[in-house]
Amino acid sequence: MGVKTVAIGKHVLKVPVIQGGMGIGVSRCRLAGAVAKEGGMGVISAAQIGYDDPDFRKDPEAANLRALRAHIARAREISGGRGMIAVNLMAVTQLYEDYVRICAEAGADAIISGAGLPSNLPKCAEGYDICLAPIVSSEKSARVILKSWDRKYQRTADFLIIEGPLAGGHLGFSQEELNQISSMNYDEEIKKILRIRDSFAEKYGHEIPVFSAGGIFSPEDVLHQLELGCDGVQVASRFVATEECDASPEYKRAYIEAEEKDIEIIKSPVGMPGRALRNAFTDRVREGSEKITWCFNCLKACNPKTADYCITQALIDAVKGDRQNGLFFCGARVGEIRKITTVKDLIEELTQKIGTGTDKKQIL
Ligand SMILES: Cc1cc2nc3c(=O)[nH]c(=O)nc-3n(C[C@H](O)[C@H](O)[C@H](O)COP(=O)(O)O)c2cc1C
Repeated sequence: MGVKTVAIGKHVLKVPVIQGGMGIGVSRCRLAGAVAKEGGMGVISAAQIGYDDPDFRKDPEAANLRALRAHIARAREISGGRGMIAVNLMAVTQLYEDYVRICAEAGADAIISGAGLPSNLPKCAEGYDICLAPIVSSEKSARVILKSWDRKYQRTADFLIIEGPLAGGHLGFSQEELNQISSMNYDEEIKKILRIRDSFAEKYGHEIPVFSAGGIFSPEDVLHQLELGCDGVQVASRFVATEECDASPEYKRAYIEAEEKDIEIIKSPVGMPGRALRNAFTDRVREGSEKITWCFNCLKACNPKTADYCITQALIDAVKGDRQNGLFFCGARVGEIRKITTVKDLIEELTQKIGTGTDKKQIL
């Protein structure tokens, strides 16, 4: 089999790998640019991307929008014009429309949107030349979002991300479902989503490439997803343990040291469960003793009077490397990560079963 390229709108991905968006600050220009340089899709997380701007506390939105613009431009420079640069935008973000506008104006190739269904994304992006992709976790959510875009905007997705129960960060599953992952036949769910994709691709007369995510760790996992009928994969946790990842060395060390027993599911103020590393912070949240001292007004769904903790503060503490106070999101297979590598080596490793070295040289 030759290396599978994937056409998305007017773009062509030379390797069928998307690096999943990771907030806060874990995937910014350095990681996304490096992934695009290798022919994949690098994804910048827009979540509080200006967290290290000197004016962040005074005016978080202005700092974020400024940083988003700068990181898109810098990622493009790092990529050398190869691959694709996308932005991950949570549907629950305040001022969602402003973020979409900045992504398009700054020249991002795509917006990937999850953590809730991005029902009005096509409206916000109207008139801009930018690919749009929702993240779905079930046949039902795929049907709902594609039907709604079809009915309201007479358009469909340019590509689709399926995020399964082994993913990191916020999860589109209930706690009960997550307690029974081993009895879940998620391959069947993926096949059902692919059938829904087929019906909309047929209606609109263009391909809708599908990338599956969650627990994809090895070349065999990548091959398995392609055999199921997916066009590629989205991988996140493994990209944390790369030299180019934008998180602090201490964040990466937390990943290398983690074992399966260190993972827990935590309730998030976003209103969804999230998978993270257990530490003093998650212990305090579980005991109900974590306090909110400041509100960044970042999420539509969050009420600081009733929320268990401030997710922005916890994720900022994590990306800076505070092992006691940070919330370290991770995928279910973080315990298998043993060393820091480079983006180039990781992409080569992940795609080794889907092409020979010679094929790869020809295509890249
Ligand atoms: C540290 C971390 C932060 C994440 N942040 C986001 C985010 O801000 N938005 C989002 O849609 N997904 C987020 N995710 C999910 C990833 O983009 C990805 O789909 C998922 O983690 C894939 O599973 P894997 O980590 O097992 O490869 C995050 C994942 C991790 C590990």
